[in-house]
Amino acid sequence: MTMTPDNAEDSPPRLEVSGLTVTFGGLTALDDVSFTVGDGETVALIGPNGAGKTTVFNAVCGLVRTRRGEIRVGGAPAPSSATGLLGAGVSRTLQGLGLFDRLTVLENVLVPLTSTGRRTAADDLAAAHEVLAALGLNAAAAAPAGTLPYPERKRVALARALVTRPRLVLLDEPAGGLGAADIDQLAQTVRTVSDGGCAVLLVEHHVDFVMDVADRVVVLDFGHVIACGTPETVRRDPAVEQAYLGVPASRVSTGSTSDKGATTGEGS
Ligand SMILES: Nc1ncnc2c1ncn2[C@@H]1O[C@H](COP(=O)(O)OP(=O)(O)OP(=O)(O)O)[C@@H](O)[C@H]1O
Ligand SMILES: [Mg+2]
Repeated sequence: MTMTPDNAEDSPPRLEVSGLTVTFGGLTALDDVSFTVGDGETVALIGPNGAGKTTVFNAVCGLVRTRRGEIRVGGAPAPSSATGLLGAGVSRTLQGLGLFDRLTVLENVLVPLTSTGRRTAADDLAAAHEVLAALGLNAAAAAPAGTLPYPERKRVALARALVTRPRLVLLDEPAGGLGAADIDQLAQTVRTVSDGGCAVLLVEHHVDFVMDVADRVVVLDFGHVIACGTPETVRRDPAVEQAYLGVPASRVSTGSTSDKGATTGEGS
């Protein structure tokens, strides 16, 4: 849901990516990519495997060198250090879970707070318990993260990104590997986060989920933006159909990272 502040026209977008070009040796992973995400807006970045979606996230977080272009957060150049990003209100989930399996759920969620040293322990604990409660993870707080079923581990990864109360959150395949009920719950969480004014940029192969939560969709193919618009406009775009959505039914699968095409969520 878009929450447009009265002075939206005066304030810079929460995230502004302009002319972003990233190369790895001879491979151009991103070529002149531009888009914005506003406060309270949810933008989905979709496209086939290898299109460059995760590379956009890595560029925003300063993990890959940009060859050309600019990334601004809240009107200022994006910081490149982990502490700088947290200070700018940016957090992300990883395409893999990236949890510390032997640490408890609570300890995993505390990691981004304790690593910055910007709050007292009591504040950290309160923030962690608040996000655990919101994501239905209270009962699992003391369990080692590695012992939880996959959908709960996925929620721990989300909790870790939300515990810092970000103003911009980047979610890399948050619905990957989840079934219908968990995806519905995830959609509700994304709406709550966005209604609170946070800008959400998500990468996802589950088309139904994208159509459900996104205000706008940016479609990447071979590092180029081939379409950008509302979910309905993008769904009907012939170029998108050809590059991504129109994959034959036999190739539509559960949306894991090794899948080529989009999934409708049916049967997953
Ligand atoms: N660190 C790297 N070094 C070299 N090549 C890379 C690196 N990171 C990504 N690439 C390449 O850049 C291209 C884009 O990769 P990226 O991971 O961004 O794709 P993606 O759209 O996230 O795909 P998927 O849907 O499979 O996650 C791919 O060809 C990939 O092999
Ligand atoms: Mg990826």
